Amino acid sequence: MTTAVGIDIGGTGIKGALVDVDTGELLSDRIKVPTPAGGEPDAIVQTVVELIASLKVDDSVPVGVCFPAVVVHGTTLSAANVSKKWIGLEAEKLFEKALGRDIHFVNDADAAGVAEVRYGAAKGVPGLILLTTLGTGIGSALIYNGVLVPNSELGHIEVDGKDAEKRASYHAKEKNDLSWERWAQRLQSYYEHLIALFHPDLFIVGGGVSKQFEDFLPLLKLDTKIVPAQLRNNAGIMGAAALAIRDDFSTPAKTPIAEHPRS
Ligand code: BGC
Repeated sequence: MTTAVGIDIGGTGIKGALVDVDTGELLSDRIKVPTPAGGEPDAIVQTVVELIASLKVDDSVPVGVCFPAVVVHGTTLSAANVSKKWIGLEAEKLFEKALGRDIHFVNDADAAGVAEVRYGAAKGVPGLILLTTLGTGIGSALIYNGVLVPNSELGHIEVDGKDAEKRASYHAKEKNDLSWERWAQRLQSYYEHLIALFHPDLFIVGGGVSKQFEDFLPLLKLDTKIVPAQLRNNAGIMGAAALAIRDDFSTPAKTPIAEHPRS
């Protein structure tokens, strides 16, 4: 059995667990702690160090960490829902120094996308898949024939003159006390924009709210099939762990594209 620790840093909470990367199964309790107020680098790094220590795993177990920002070669290049100090920070090195070991560091939605490809709703599905995570922000993973195109950042496309995640994230629903119906109207125009830009074969909807998919997915009328993420809110943990073992982003789909009926 191959195991790795997966850590999912979000704008609201930081989650972690030990994962069997062959199956995606969580081998420990899922530990969740609040993201330190302000989302400052030092405070987040310290929280992750403590979280990993509480998992009590051997130092030789690989660690994958995913983070809600653009991550290019270990450097964070954006900071929508965390401190602006992350912009331009060599974040991977910062974590490695504090943890005293190598880690693999990626965008949170990309990790979720990799997990859905390896263990969930995108497994063996060829063609163009767009996974969106509806949480504090909107994250996206763009997957073509099982291969991730990293850092797509489709939560920040402009819809009706506004940053999409400001109107259509789950946080926006909560903050504005939107009914499922009102929120679904916003999601409708968001996904219509994504269809116009990408014409995907499949949308996968992740984030914590995806467990309530029956309340909002049936309200959407889209030309593209849209399904809930199978791994719900554990996808980031599982994907980060999987990438700690296999970090080349390539997870080829098993079914040839011609066999995949377009919906
Ligand atoms: C960030 C993304 C992240 C998403 C979900 C967005 O605000 O720009 O990098 O994936 O939130 O956390």
